Amino acid sequence: MKTAIIGAGAMGCLFGAHLARAGVDVTLIDIDADEVATLRARGVRLHQDGRVSDVAVAALTDPAEAGPADLVIVFVKAHQTRSVLPGLPPLLGPETRVLTLQNGLGAADVLAEAVPPDRLLVGVTAQGATQLGRGEVRHGGRGETLLGPYRPGPDRFAQRAAAMLTGAGLPARAVADPWPPVWKKLAVNCAINPVTALTGIRNGPVAAWDPARELAADAAREAAAVARAEGVDLGDPEDLVGFVTAVARATAENRSSMGQDVDRRAPTEIEFICGAVVRRGEARGVPTPVNRTLWRLIRTLELGYRTAAPIPEDAHGQVHDS
Ligand code: PAF
Repeated sequence: MKTAIIGAGAMGCLFGAHLARAGVDVTLIDIDADEVATLRARGVRLHQDGRVSDVAVAALTDPAEAGPADLVIVFVKAHQTRSVLPGLPPLLGPETRVLTLQNGLGAADVLAEAVPPDRLLVGVTAQGATQLGRGEVRHGGRGETLLGPYRPGPDRFAQRAAAMLTGAGLPARAVADPWPPVWKKLAVNCAINPVTALTGIRNGPVAAWDPARELAADAAREAAAVARAEGVDLGDPEDLVGFVTAVARATAENRSSMGQDVDRRAPTEIEFICGAVVRRGEARGVPTPVNRTLWRLIRTLELGYRTAAPIPEDAHGQVHDS
């Protein structure tokens, strides 16, 4: 299955290295020319199980050079999704499927502007990776990848894609309806990510420290209430809270992806995480005060580090997003 991966960040490199090692015809595509040059010269430097190996991969900046693929996996940050749309057409043949494994909720809807919905797959992955440098990643937590059609129903291509990932050492399963797992992961992300990003802690204390655990639990309960209002049943909210705590424990040593973004003073995925819960909640009349507060705090943090000039004394906090 000829595969193109858009976005050679931590997850793109992790998946690209596994697929290449398994003999899949895979190309990593990234707009960062230095990243691509490093990948072409050395491959992905993968830290895994106490070993470091360099895995040769094809890498390009220009999607047109790759030509049509059978499967395109989108792994850019959720807020960068719109920027990949102009590069998609050369990758799309008549049967190409596009799979988003991005965090949050909303990236698939952006992709659906450029990809026919019946050729769009949506998924979540519990694989974890930390970017250590250009083209260099550490494989963190392992877990299953679930994928299914944007418009729920049985999908044989999703089964083939899941089999390919599983064969490459990334256990995956096709599901008829990907939206419950997407909402479950969203609940985890809106609980763990902003709490860790705002406080500088790793994931572990979200499970271990009462105030952090209670704040995360409240954010997850709100996400479950909005999901239910949208017709997605995530089961008993307290089981979901237990799941969030278990994920924080299982990834105790990790800094969440949003924590890593904030550490690098880079834009975060907050609009697609707490922002998505707030907007969907508003549309369904479900109050989401905790997610709204976390959303506002992260946006304030981003504005703070994106505003290079000192804030004038009379600004009264009126810093405008650019
Ligand atoms: O975004 C992340 O960091 C991850 O999805 C998770 C599960 C919170 C672990 O760090």
